[in-house]
Amino acid sequence: MTLDAAWYTSPAAFATERERIFSQRWILVGREEQIDKPGDYFVADVDGQSIIVTRDSQRAIHAFYNVCRHRGTRVCEASSGHFQGSIQCPYHAWTYGLDGTLKAARNMAEVSGFDRSQYPLHESAAAAWEGFIFVNLSDALRQAPREAQTAFDREFAPLIGRFAKWDIANLKTARTIHYDLACNWKLVFLNYSECYHCPLVHPQLDKLSPSDSGRNDLSDGPFLGGYSELRAEATSLTTSGHTSRPPLGSVSGDDVNRIYYYTIFPSMLLSLHADYVMVHYAKPVGPDRTEVRCAWLFDAAEMAKPGFDPSDAVDFWDLTNRQDWHVNELTQLGMQSRAYTPGPYSNAEGLLTAFDRYYLSVMR
Ligand code: FES
Ligand SMILES: [Fe+2]
Repeated sequence: MTLDAAWYTSPAAFATERERIFSQRWILVGREEQIDKPGDYFVADVDGQSIIVTRDSQRAIHAFYNVCRHRGTRVCEASSGHFQGSIQCPYHAWTYGLDGTLKAARNMAEVSGFDRSQYPLHESAAAAWEGFIFVNLSDALRQAPREAQTAFDREFAPLIGRFAKWDIANLKTARTIHYDLACNWKLVFLNYSECYHCPLVHPQLDKLSPSDSGRNDLSDGPFLGGYSELRAEATSLTTSGHTSRPPLGSVSGDDVNRIYYYTIFPSMLLSLHADYVMVHYAKPVGPDRTEVRCAWLFDAAEMAKPGFDPSDAVDFWDLTNRQDWHVNELTQLGMQSRAYTPGPYSNAEGLLTAFDRYYLSVMR
């Protein structure tokens, strides 16, 4: 059965989610390609916290709270850019190294008892996987940001190496689209996890990939998903149903005719096509509001070719995304009705019961 309405509509449930999920789990924030050089940075919003994600001269990735240790001023206003070797607060020019240590604080040497080493930028944990950057705000990891990658690898063990054939770390983002959804974030995950709705909601998708061709290969825990097959006449999920792009990395055999779909709790949807990868970054901003960023990744060499155009893939999924957002918003509206009561899942919605089960195990 579907869950009670309160899980999707109540501010109290949302507050508990922030406490138990969004401030505790690994949250997808971006790609390593965004901070290719030491000093490159972007600012991410994680559970309402402004976080500076940057790379130091040793190429280590850091996630700093965007808060000056002097009087708390927001240090970085731009959403992305490049630090020239250090991070300077715009108020009184306290200056931090790319590793967060306080390097200079004007006139503070005369202040008795002041010890610069006690005032680095507050840091949270960052880790990378397949070129994706994740941040974790939990206090446990905050004490040990150096061990963050180990902790991440342990938690993501079922996924580490699983998608090696697609060589995702070396792909580049060709296009990104932002969407604002009037629905709970979990409806986005649930909708992504079944194709029961596909014949009706996605006639274009159904024409290329039969809605009943799905097979699950991860069906328990925080990572759920499997694959669907292309129809014989299709070669990719694009507006034409075809692609002239070669398969990524070492994708071959059955995988050429499959699309793999995974929900990566609680912030990421990963869709692997033979010739491109699509990722949804999901960010809840309220019980009934979710921001979704969808990005399309391609082989860098393919992108460098004259005439490269990702529109066939982008337009196909932009349409499909909007079709999904529409039914998600309709579901949110219905769940807000006093008449809503939990309804029975179909046999094609096994991943949804798995998602709910895992979600409740975290929340209770
Ligand atoms: S608040 Fe940042 S230097 Fe004063
Ligand atoms: Fe859909």
